Amino acid sequence: MFLDTANITEIEAMLAFGWITGVTTNPTLLAKEKGRSRADISREILSILSEEQRLFIQATGETQTELYEDAQIILSKDARIAIKIPADEIGFRVMTQLKQERPDVEILATAIFSVEQSYLAALAGCDWVAPYVNRMANQGLQPAHVIADTAQLFKQLGVPTKILGASFKNTAQITETLLAGATDVTIPADLVTVMMQNKLAADSIHAFNLDAKGGRR
Ligand code: G3P
Repeated sequence: MFLDTANITEIEAMLAFGWITGVTTNPTLLAKEKGRSRADISREILSILSEEQRLFIQATGETQTELYEDAQIILSKDARIAIKIPADEIGFRVMTQLKQERPDVEILATAIFSVEQSYLAALAGCDWVAPYVNRMANQGLQPAHVIADTAQLFKQLGVPTKILGASFKNTAQITETLLAGATDVTIPADLVTVMMQNKLAADSIHAFNLDAKGGRR
């Protein structure tokens, strides 16, 4: 499980649970951390991640050159950084370029809305594709079908590209994504908290605690 946030307080709180593989950010999440640069936020997040945990940072640019150069800047900062590249025509060029030059660089193809994008990203050698579940649902698409078809295609092709579901607004979307065949998910911290909460469990635990107190008397 990855955390989809650039907020250091949220990351710190969630790291205590030990199930976090890494943190994913995007320009919108970074912009929410007002008054701070991407470099500053990244440095602070990396300072609390372990050697094994990954930080995903998205490269931006209107042209192939801009996108490629931004990716190089991002990747130069720390070996634990994986690069997010948008899955459009310019992005596919940059993914190919990066993988040819540095096969060890970990690339996540982001802003995925179709099996077609995932297929091209896998051929470009990407390590992950990130289907945008809630944004698909908002457009009347069927994210679980897209993910299941992608998982089947990757298996058929024998490619190692993993599916990292992203863009979640409720917990059902998360379980549906995993059951459809996603290997990973990236979740906003508030939704992880919701996943831990269950009224029936809370009632049972409360009763156990009351009985335990009575039993100890
Ligand atoms: O990591 C980016 C992806 O999660 C987008 O999420 O909530 O902006 O649709 P959202």
